[in-house]
Amino acid sequence: PTYRIAAIPGDGIGVDITSAAIQVLDTLATANGAFAFKYTTFDWSSKAYLERGWYMQPDWEAQLKKHDAIYFGAVGWPDVPDHISLWQMILPIRQRMNQYVNVRPTRILKGTHPPVAQLQQKPADLDWIIVRENSEGEYAGQGGTTHGHTAHATATEVAIFTYVGIERIMRFAFETAKARPRRKLTMVTKSNAQRHGMVLWDKVFYEVAKEYEGVVEYDKMLVDAMTVRMVNRPESMDTIVATNLHADILSDLAAALAGSIGIAPSSNLDPTRSCPSMFEPIHGSAPDIAGKGIANPVGAFWSAAEMVRWLGKGELDAVADQFMQAIENVTGNPETRTKDMGGSAGTKAVTEAVCREIERV
Ligand code: NAI
Ligand code: MG
Repeated sequence: PTYRIAAIPGDGIGVDITSAAIQVLDTLATANGAFAFKYTTFDWSSKAYLERGWYMQPDWEAQLKKHDAIYFGAVGWPDVPDHISLWQMILPIRQRMNQYVNVRPTRILKGTHPPVAQLQQKPADLDWIIVRENSEGEYAGQGGTTHGHTAHATATEVAIFTYVGIERIMRFAFETAKARPRRKLTMVTKSNAQRHGMVLWDKVFYEVAKEYEGVVEYDKMLVDAMTVRMVNRPESMDTIVATNLHADILSDLAAALAGSIGIAPSSNLDPTRSCPSMFEPIHGSAPDIAGKGIANPVGAFWSAAEMVRWLGKGELDAVADQFMQAIENVTGNPETRTKDMGGSAGTKAVTEAVCREIERV
């Protein structure tokens, strides 16, 4: 089959890593021969917004729905307030494309240098899937401001938790945990201080857990204590489920523990497959290194591998595994690591190395 991909490079290093990912995906398709990709590239970005006053066309939903998947680079630029860039693109896409799950795998790829001493001794111990609720919670966008931004200003930021929203993410998390060798799920909450939404979150978790009794081992953590456990006892966890905000923060910590934010991938999934799912590295547009040709494309490649896995509906798992193997052969070689991984190779050199590995494997 030919998979139709909506490519949205966005801003800063999003542009570099998206074109790197496309190059690698095409190499993979050519080497395999059984599938191909056809891209539509959208110039939706903060740079375009500054020129023309809008990010996406009014019919953006219909345009995206013509595709099998969305590949996203990063959005955000210093000249545009971040809440505008996020709310003009990435958040509406996640919400309107029914991508209620954000999956963030974390493990220590060959050649990465975790900053924490304990982890350096046992890299195999850090192997997590973080399941982030991606449609509501703290990022529901509800709230308001009175008295503008004067000294009398009052602002509310309301988190929304619905039974339906919690139940579906818990079910997805338990199914993810069940499919992994360790069959373990850790649920993150803050139901001691937050006494409404988080209490419902806990309640629904325990309800869904009844269906997995004896199949998936599960436990509960408060989010503050969770940060400590992630650093000190990474081996004690496998699959982790948390709210939109909590998982956002914990997955950045996870990426740092695994060696670099430049490595970490994410999948925004519509498990019902009624809309295209979206794949993106977790990092942002990195204005500090944009245009220098030194961005690490590994997070973008790993995200692309997850896209292949999703598109294949089980039939391309071996291809995705080989793709990951090719990436790790490259990160395992000190000559082909970027600066954030302790090397000196640029984006282009790493990309070409991964392409060569794909052709070889
Ligand atoms: P960031 O992830 O862009 O950068 C954080 C730090 O990590 C920087 O020092 C950067 O150089 C480094 N870094 C990130 N990706 C890297 C890579 N692939 N290779 C090497 N180094 C890398 O986060 P920051 O600086 O907080 O945000 C910058 C902009 O990106 C903001 O406008 C923000 O809103 C936006 N952003 C967008 C996201 C998205 O599109 N999903 C996610 C996070 C931030
Ligand atoms: Mg984040």
